[in-house]
Amino acid sequence: MELFNVYPLNDITPVRALGAQLWDDKGKQYLDFYGGHAVISIGHSHPHYVQRITEQVQKIGFYSNSVHIPIQRELAEKLGEVSDYPDYTLFLCNSGAEANENALKLASFHTGKSHVIAFKGAFHGRTSGAVAATDNPKIVAPFNAGHPITFLPYDLGEVERVLQEGNTCGVIIEPIQGVGGIIMPSDEFLQGLEQLCQQYGAVLIADEVQSGFGRSGRFFAHQHAGVRPDIISVAKGMGNGFPIGGILISPEFKASYGLLGTTFGGNHLACAAALAVLEVIEQENLLEHAAQMGEYLKTELLAHSGAQEVRGRGLMVGIKYDFPIKDVRDKLLTEHHIFVGNASDPTVLRLLPPLNIKRAEVDQFLQALYAIIPAEVRR
Ligand SMILES: Cc1ncc(COP(=O)(O)O)c(C=O)c1O
Repeated sequence: MELFNVYPLNDITPVRALGAQLWDDKGKQYLDFYGGHAVISIGHSHPHYVQRITEQVQKIGFYSNSVHIPIQRELAEKLGEVSDYPDYTLFLCNSGAEANENALKLASFHTGKSHVIAFKGAFHGRTSGAVAATDNPKIVAPFNAGHPITFLPYDLGEVERVLQEGNTCGVIIEPIQGVGGIIMPSDEFLQGLEQLCQQYGAVLIADEVQSGFGRSGRFFAHQHAGVRPDIISVAKGMGNGFPIGGILISPEFKASYGLLGTTFGGNHLACAAALAVLEVIEQENLLEHAAQMGEYLKTELLAHSGAQEVRGRGLMVGIKYDFPIKDVRDKLLTEHHIFVGNASDPTVLRLLPPLNIKRAEVDQFLQALYAIIPAEVRR
């Protein structure tokens, strides 16, 4: 059987990885400055992570949510403590899209409304059709009734105008847009949005799938703005490569049997992976390290890269040029053996290295970029 061919591939076959380094099947070494779309948070094959997963699978790898799974509680407790949300509850699933679907469903159940506000350039996943196609009144929320979405600019007046119509269940926002090209709403915008959601009874959902788990130098990117969303969705860096996602839910939401559900979500192995990530983040002080490395990277880029703009927080960085970056990205990979990402804006390079990236590795990336960008651009 052939694979359904939907991904353009680089002609590289990684077979081994450690930290921010990858090796292909020909023994060629690469620097990973992208982590497979922000998934690699604590570095590839971190010894503590490998040990935690190995020990878990030797005991039990999976059983469904019909029995007690103590490691789920262990994970919820640790996540509450490390993220500073000890009073929230945790629902576990398998991916970012699934986390957002559950967040929207919950918002819809909670308010009895269906309309959603999102923002221009946003990316929240590809599977919302799955909810829309379900015809079981016990499972579906009002959200299913066509789940109308309005995409707005970062304009509080526009948001209020739509909220005043009275049919909005939730507002979903990436505190830093990833796929959109590392675009940040201002802290004041997020604060105003929180206030409007409270005023009009809409659920504020922070999509931290890409920006969460330490990527921005705080545990969650919205914490830079001092806001407290009602629901926070997580995935990607949460499992460092093991598929896991979830939503953190404010105490205002009451759980009831059957409200949400999943087969694989919160399985033993996924929880072991996520716990290992949190333990490493804590033990290795990775929030502070990510903030410091991010500052260093951005300062250097602003001074020497010739970029029009350097955006982002911590180790979620976008470099915007006034020309398409495809050639730069290709050269970084083929000539300098460095993985970086692109964005829906073709003039933006997206950097998402592991949170424990070393300064020497940052320098390696910078030197490679400077060698590619023509001197007249860098002047
Ligand atoms: C902000 C954000 N939300 C949701 C998703 C979807 O996550 P997944 O691909 O795990 O479904 C992504 C993926 O890139 C994302 O960046």
